[in-house]
Amino acid sequence: MLRVEGLHVYYGAIHALKGISFSVAEGELVTLLGANGAGKTTALKTISGLLRPRAGTVALEEHALEELGPHEIVRLGVVHVPEGRKIFPRFTVLENLKAGAYARRASSIREDFDFVFTLFPRLKERARQMGGTLSGGEQQMLAIGRGLMAKPKLLLLDEPSMGLAPLLVEQIFATIRAINQQGVTILLVEQNAAMALSISERGYVLETGTVILEGKASDLVTSDRVRQAYLGG
Ligand SMILES: Nc1ncnc2c1ncn2[C@@H]1O[C@H](COP(=O)(O)OP(=O)(O)OP(=O)(O)O)[C@@H](O)[C@H]1O
Ligand SMILES: [Mg+2]
Repeated sequence: MLRVEGLHVYYGAIHALKGISFSVAEGELVTLLGANGAGKTTALKTISGLLRPRAGTVALEEHALEELGPHEIVRLGVVHVPEGRKIFPRFTVLENLKAGAYARRASSIREDFDFVFTLFPRLKERARQMGGTLSGGEQQMLAIGRGLMAKPKLLLLDEPSMGLAPLLVEQIFATIRAINQQGVTILLVEQNAAMALSISERGYVLETGTVILEGKASDLVTSDRVRQAYLGG
């Protein structure tokens, strides 16, 4: 479904991605692992059209995403839930969710509300509360829920577990798995390697803009390199 090849991305003189390649098949849940500054967010931003690569290609089926803008990419079904949530604080939960569906016709939105509220019953209880007054975990649920309202074919999740209490982390990962099982293809960026690999089929490890390791999640969990760097030995 998604094939990234030879991607080079710069911020001015900083060479953030140095020719990375990876792919996600339809229906898969794939994790990008890597330390702070490895280039994970940069990779997601390039896929969703927020950054332009200097070289390389991003293919979604037959579409060359590197030639399109962010709005066109959303319309093709690629939805990016950014790092740090970025919900609208002065909109209610309901309004935030509606904003996620902006690129779509109104007719089919009803059942997507139901889908989001089934995944996150807490959001239903808080439907009329201002986004900015939700707890950190609830804001993360809202950010993912808003992404789902855009009816993604491919969901890009940037560190959904960041800053959440352990119990909530487990819940968010279980929900991500459930979303994937509903047929949404997912590219997940995480620092919580153990959790991310436990729900993923495959993974890639980024180090300073380069893919240094890739494979089945079950093989990565047992690899010495991943264990030492990301799983505390
Ligand atoms: N707007 C920017 N201007 C200049 N350099 C940037 C910018 N954004 C990111 N970088 C640099 O690009 C590199 C990759 O950053 P990126 O945000 O992709 O890392 P990351 O893997 O998502 O890290 P983290 O786990 O901390 O979120 C880093 O060295 C970072 O300092
Ligand atoms: Mg990041």
